[in-house]
Amino acid sequence: PPLGTILNLYDFERLASKILTNQAWAYYSSGADDEITYRENHNAYHRIFFKPHILVDVKDVNLKTTMLGNKTDVPFYVSATALCKLGNPEGGEVDIAKGCGSTSYMVPQMISTLASCSLDEVAEGKANDKQLQWFQLYVNSDRKITRNLIKHAEDLGMKAIFVTVDAPSLGNREKDQKIKFTTQGSEGPKILQKKGDTSNAAAEAKKKENKSDGASKALSKFIDPSLSWEDIAKMRELTKLPIVIKGVQRAEDAVRAAQMGCQGVVLSNHGGRQLDFSRAPIEVLAETMPILKHHGLDKNFDVFVDGGIRRGTDILKALCLGATGVGLGRPFLYANSCYGRDGVAHAIDIITKELEMSMRLLGVSKIEDLNPGFLDLQSLHAR
Ligand code: FNR
Repeated sequence: PPLGTILNLYDFERLASKILTNQAWAYYSSGADDEITYRENHNAYHRIFFKPHILVDVKDVNLKTTMLGNKTDVPFYVSATALCKLGNPEGGEVDIAKGCGSTSYMVPQMISTLASCSLDEVAEGKANDKQLQWFQLYVNSDRKITRNLIKHAEDLGMKAIFVTVDAPSLGNREKDQKIKFTTQGSEGPKILQKKGDTSNAAAEAKKKENKSDGASKALSKFIDPSLSWEDIAKMRELTKLPIVIKGVQRAEDAVRAAQMGCQGVVLSNHGGRQLDFSRAPIEVLAETMPILKHHGLDKNFDVFVDGGIRRGTDILKALCLGATGVGLGRPFLYANSCYGRDGVAHAIDIITKELEMSMRLLGVSKIEDLNPGFLDLQSLHAR
């Protein structure tokens, strides 16, 4: 169908469920176990209502903000997802970069360690130097590989390192496992494919790939399950780039990350793909912000959320609760798979217009004016 008939992010998902290969759909759409957390991520937003102000001048609504010290046009970003070529074999992550750079508001892109395009290719896809890219790091058991990845990301102008910590082993995604997966051809992660790569870990990871176990299992071999807070402390010394811990699920860990000198956290359960019965990130956000504030750590520390964000109102709720910005994963995967870079740009347009309109109706013209007072949170914790 023509792109103009896609009115919201769910339309991309419906279309993707019809036209993606079984393998891509299974890998992209699956959550862990019974997918309780996968559904709860979005459902939790249904338990928050608005208390709009009336008669406020909302002629001009400004969505600009600052994330990790860089100015951005909108308070959301494309979150890292592995294997973008499964759904878009030609364009993969490069098409996401092009889509992000082609609208009038540029959107930051977080690029997965397990991307199916090389980091160089995705960096080349930027429209100009103002377009923000961040690197999502999975830490390998060979720390030399990790050091090299960080250095490479720095050299390519990536503006932050997001260390994913919620996947010491990859979650139990049964839809995905039912589909036999092979990382053959160009769709597998580029990092496991490097020709003439002499590093043992990459070669080991490649050898250990069990091709009958589904995409997730094949990828999990890259990730070191022994990763701990000490490693994060050491990483601080490896790079001047902001370090953000992705996959925080309780307030104490956000406090610890801030105390260690990290620049931010992503409250996330990996889109419901890891521990089933993890709480929805929006609920964790409501708990975390007051505790960060209590410790005096809420300034100069960025708190992001991702998981189940599908509407402008979802973003608005997270911003009212104090999030610096929000990430979307699957919606951009589906948009990219169905329509390539134009789909990505259209998805950005849709969500930006929804956010702008909702802000206007809430009676707010700029992001810094949002606060929890705009929300009725009475039922948030009543699951
Ligand atoms: C992911 N996510 C993810 N996160 C990460 O840090 N590294 C990765 O390689 C991946 N890969 C990945 C693949 C697929 C198919 C999905 C759906 C997700 C998690 C992602 O960054 C983000 O946390 C969630 O996708 C957010 O939830 P929604 O927006 O998909 O509901």
